[in-house]
Amino acid sequence: MEQRKILVTSALPYANGDIHLGHLMEVIQTDIWVRLQKLQGHDCVYVCADDAHGTAIMLSAEEEGITSQQLIDRVNEQHQRDFADFLIGFDNYYSTHSEENRILSESIYHAIDDNGHIARRKIKQLFDPERKLFLADRYVIGICPKCRSEDQYGDNCEVCGSTYNPSELINPRSSISGATPIEKESEHFFFTLPAFREMLQEWTRSGTLQNSVANKLSEWLDEDLQEWDISRDAPYFGFEIPNTTGKYFYVWVDAPIGYMASFKNLCDRTDYDFDIYWNKESNAEVYHFIGKDIINFHTLFWPAMLTSAGYRTPSAVYAHGFLTVDGTKMSKSRGTFINAQTYLEHLNPEYLRYYLAAKLSSGIDDLDLNLEDFVLRVNSDLVGKVVNIASRCAGFIGKGFEGKLASELDSPELLEEIQASKAEITNHFNEREYGKAIRVIMALADKANQYINDKQPWVIAKSDKQSLELQQICSTGINAFRLLIAYLKPVLPAMAEKVEEFLGIDALCWADIDTLLTDHSINKFQPLMTRVESDKIQAMVAATQQEHEAQQQTEAKTMGNDNSGFEKEIEYDDFIKIDLRVAKIITAEHVEGADKLLKLNLDIGLDKSGGPITRTVFSGIKSAYDPEELVGKLTVVVANLKPRKMKFGLSEGMILAAGPGGEDIWLIEANYGAQPGMRVT
Ligand code: MSP
Ligand code: ZN
Repeated sequence: MEQRKILVTSALPYANGDIHLGHLMEVIQTDIWVRLQKLQGHDCVYVCADDAHGTAIMLSAEEEGITSQQLIDRVNEQHQRDFADFLIGFDNYYSTHSEENRILSESIYHAIDDNGHIARRKIKQLFDPERKLFLADRYVIGICPKCRSEDQYGDNCEVCGSTYNPSELINPRSSISGATPIEKESEHFFFTLPAFREMLQEWTRSGTLQNSVANKLSEWLDEDLQEWDISRDAPYFGFEIPNTTGKYFYVWVDAPIGYMASFKNLCDRTDYDFDIYWNKESNAEVYHFIGKDIINFHTLFWPAMLTSAGYRTPSAVYAHGFLTVDGTKMSKSRGTFINAQTYLEHLNPEYLRYYLAAKLSSGIDDLDLNLEDFVLRVNSDLVGKVVNIASRCAGFIGKGFEGKLASELDSPELLEEIQASKAEITNHFNEREYGKAIRVIMALADKANQYINDKQPWVIAKSDKQSLELQQICSTGINAFRLLIAYLKPVLPAMAEKVEEFLGIDALCWADIDTLLTDHSINKFQPLMTRVESDKIQAMVAATQQEHEAQQQTEAKTMGNDNSGFEKEIEYDDFIKIDLRVAKIITAEHVEGADKLLKLNLDIGLDKSGGPITRTVFSGIKSAYDPEELVGKLTVVVANLKPRKMKFGLSEGMILAAGPGGEDIWLIEANYGAQPGMRVT
């Protein structure tokens, strides 16, 4: 077989957060594929890096009172440790904030600019006059112009789902300083993506992408391709654009170039030749593994930039879906937004590698980590099926034959059958259909166990511990085990290493699947993998919840210390204008089509003629309360708030509640003889 030159990447994690199970799913998917290529003898290189630039990282560092450099150095170390602990075999893990990346980014920019693919024009954007920075959409919050819901982000409303420009928000404010943003003009640089329409139409249809991805992209390619804004104004943590002052490359410009830079850094330390991989005529292969949320960047901007700059384009981009836990998005308050380190405090990394492999496919559907199923699956497959084969045979070989395997095997047919599945299993792994590969492997494990059941070596051992038949049966079992472990080695590299030690053999590679082990001494059997205990899972979820609560408490404290995060100071006269009243909840009901809202009917006292005053209020507390438990409660309402027309009806006030959101919202309850209509002061 011809040795292929293959360069593989996983998406570069942002340098301002911990590695969590979602990131791990991606690198595990990639790592399995890379290991397979290496086991097959290909020259496969796997590089990654931290994505260190951008406003979010700059602000995180500021909040911590450290420099951006200090932050990204610390996080880089943590990320590398997390990935190593999950047995991710990077050949290089670097940072986008590197000299190599600066040089490459500048040269690519110059090349693109020389080709006339950079446009310059002034645009208007919201600007924070206090913090003195331009505000990306997610840093502007205000009232939705359509449904008037409060606290919506600058690009879309989570309540009514409409999208808009941040300048359309009512009462917009900067989420960084609280200041009211102003519109400000500045010159921006644009990459002329529409010039690449034809190139992209062809490239996306040339077998480089999954069909579903190519189909999605063709909608855009046929319609609204826009120029891409690649500059950001200072202050920004990134690379300054050559021949400008105070203009930086947008983080998504130098992030994919970071793949090249990480490889360049490796080349400079080894015999790898950068140009062989990246020049236009390269016959090396380049693959990017990414999540479905970042498809555009990798399949439109990136190949277009590479083409303009005279480099080769990726051989393929493989997108995957998102990891959910127990059927829903990972959630901090539910304890399912699990960090790498929290997982490792409770569970073996190879459990996760195996479980994900067993469920991964080549598509972009989301993958659910069902915690109950996780326990069952790992225990029944790995411990119950695979390890069981060895533990049923090894003892007899040790006791009766001083650890020596027979020179002839009892059932070469069984082993031939296992070997005969090699092409199918290889194919599934290559096609990223890991779930299918695992199904075939486990069916073979079932056969091996069935064989041992049929032969009952323990019965033979009772009458003769040294019978040749016993040795040949158990040697067959050990050989079956060896083959299954070889197949599983891309998924379970640490377990495979333990098995190699146990069997007294050199590191297994894919070619070893064609051979058998006879007349060979093995070592004493050691437990290879223990069962998952379900209380460990519960402990992990509880620990995640606790981390979340602790973090929220520190956040709340730091807010009190330096006043940051509070609304602007108001006059007493402003405060006194707010008419707060005790209100009794008469009815509470779900609102069809609203994710967050409950519709409440409130009794807020009697009017002058003694008739009851009621108010209808839509309140965003659905995630925290069932309507039934609210009925009859006394709370506090802002009684003189101007009625607002919402998508679902008119809202005539607001009730008070506290908490960070989600399930953690607590209605302010009135007590101690409070009556509807009483003024709250
Ligand atoms: N920094 C960018 C990528 C730049 S690549 C030139 C980024 N970083 S990220 O940290 O947000 O995400 C890194 C990768 O993890 C992405 O491919 C993303 O899709 C993936 N995942 C993040 N959360 C995920 C899940 N819950 N499930 C699966 N993958 C997810 O995007
Ligand atoms: Zn809205």
